[in-house]
Amino acid sequence: MRYLIGIDLGTSATKTVLFDEAGNIMASASQEYPLYQPQNGWAEQKPEDWANAALSTITKVVKESGVAAEDIKGLGISGQMHGLVMLDEAGEVIRPSIIWCDQRTAAECEEITEKVGRERLIEITANPALTGFTASKILWVRNHEPENYKRCRHILLPKDYVRYILTGEFATEVSDASGMQLLDVPNRCWSDEVLEKLEIDKSMLAKVYESVEVTGTILPEIAEKTGLSVKTVVVGGAGDNAAAAVGTGIVREGRAFTTIGTSGVVFAHSNDVTIDPKGRVHTFCCAVPGAWHVMGVTQGAGLSLKWFRDNFCQDYIEKAEKEGKDPYDYINADVAETPLGCNKLIYLPYLMGERTPHLDPDCRGVFFGLSAIHTRKDMLRAVMEGVSYSLKDCNDILREMGIQVEEMMACGGGGKSPIWRQMLADMYGCKVKTVTAKEGPALGVAILAGVGAGIYESVEAACDKVLRIDKECAPIEENSVKYEEYHKIYKKLYPALKEQYKELANL
Ligand code: XUL
Repeated sequence: MRYLIGIDLGTSATKTVLFDEAGNIMASASQEYPLYQPQNGWAEQKPEDWANAALSTITKVVKESGVAAEDIKGLGISGQMHGLVMLDEAGEVIRPSIIWCDQRTAAECEEITEKVGRERLIEITANPALTGFTASKILWVRNHEPENYKRCRHILLPKDYVRYILTGEFATEVSDASGMQLLDVPNRCWSDEVLEKLEIDKSMLAKVYESVEVTGTILPEIAEKTGLSVKTVVVGGAGDNAAAAVGTGIVREGRAFTTIGTSGVVFAHSNDVTIDPKGRVHTFCCAVPGAWHVMGVTQGAGLSLKWFRDNFCQDYIEKAEKEGKDPYDYINADVAETPLGCNKLIYLPYLMGERTPHLDPDCRGVFFGLSAIHTRKDMLRAVMEGVSYSLKDCNDILREMGIQVEEMMACGGGGKSPIWRQMLADMYGCKVKTVTAKEGPALGVAILAGVGAGIYESVEAACDKVLRIDKECAPIEENSVKYEEYHKIYKKLYPALKEQYKELANL
């Protein structure tokens, strides 16, 4: 039997899973790390924390599984997208990584739009200038920390930093590189035009591969530390959403999934480059060679529920620890016994600004309609419904662009909740399904590693072999009608508050 490792470098933790070639889990380990928010709207993490988490979880899964090093044929890394890692000449980290949900770069986005031109930027990078994307973060460091910028010799994405630690190679791949705003997305290579206009030296960027290509092998000292073999190949891997797509079988035209992780994403596979001229959703290269995807992003999806849990559900956290359960079990139970619409309470999930459909770094969360009747249960359900309304906004734009979504796969932590999946089915008006394998991105990159190592013929063939449909829920007509009424009000709230969000940000 041959084995594969998938690493998922998330925002709250890194999870590493060792699979056999049939996709069965042999061992799994995860390690959490902090998110630093030095100012309202800023978000940073330490690349060293990611590397330590990857090394210790790899070591754990190799040891626990008892699999021989030489049988681990390939390793793939998936990761949170867009984060900026800057390394000096010696390969040392210069400053903490400014990550995907950081919103400090509004001025740099204007600078990018001015230098490249909005239309040209969308033509090349398939997206308007976005605060979340890497290019504006690079410019921010150049504008505000010139000393750090001067020392910078290598710019990497989060998962590519872990690759560098494992293999010593400076490499990236098309799906994650698409989120840097420096890639020519239709042609799947760095854009000399954008780099020249933004005066970013191309030599700082890593070599771009397709997701299934081999980018290197494990360094001897890392092999010794982790129990891997120096022959284990490390493939390109993918950004977390492109990886989750592979892990849920979204590898052919007309297929789509919703993930509820820290962020929420509605993702549709496409054989052609389809760009929203209004720039409300992203078009990226996907992990299947020669294909793309379109996706809408809710910035604060699982993040909203985690924030509420950490601040207002301490009793559940303690109870769960005592009873060996998950605090979300109690939350799901509360939500299940709360009526749809939460007794007329609506939540806007804009804790870290919003992308789809508003593209606004300054908007923030709101509970609208709070009354003395409301309890914590109503607020919990409102958080889940509010996130789902935002995901419905994403799905509506995909439909508007002519992307037909007949059925939706669900994944991510939130996708495990039956009540959350039912909300999505009711709001989207289509079936929502899960696959038996729950490892999403980690399985996705293990599959990519299997293709790179020659175990599977193609990404599509591997998905057919490894993935099975598990649970399925159908929309309930009566609920869909009620949600429609609430969604109408939800959609009016952002435009009504837009100006006040700016005023608040400027205080
Ligand atoms: C995608 C995005 C997030 C991150 C973190 O554009 O910013 O989904 O990848 O999960």
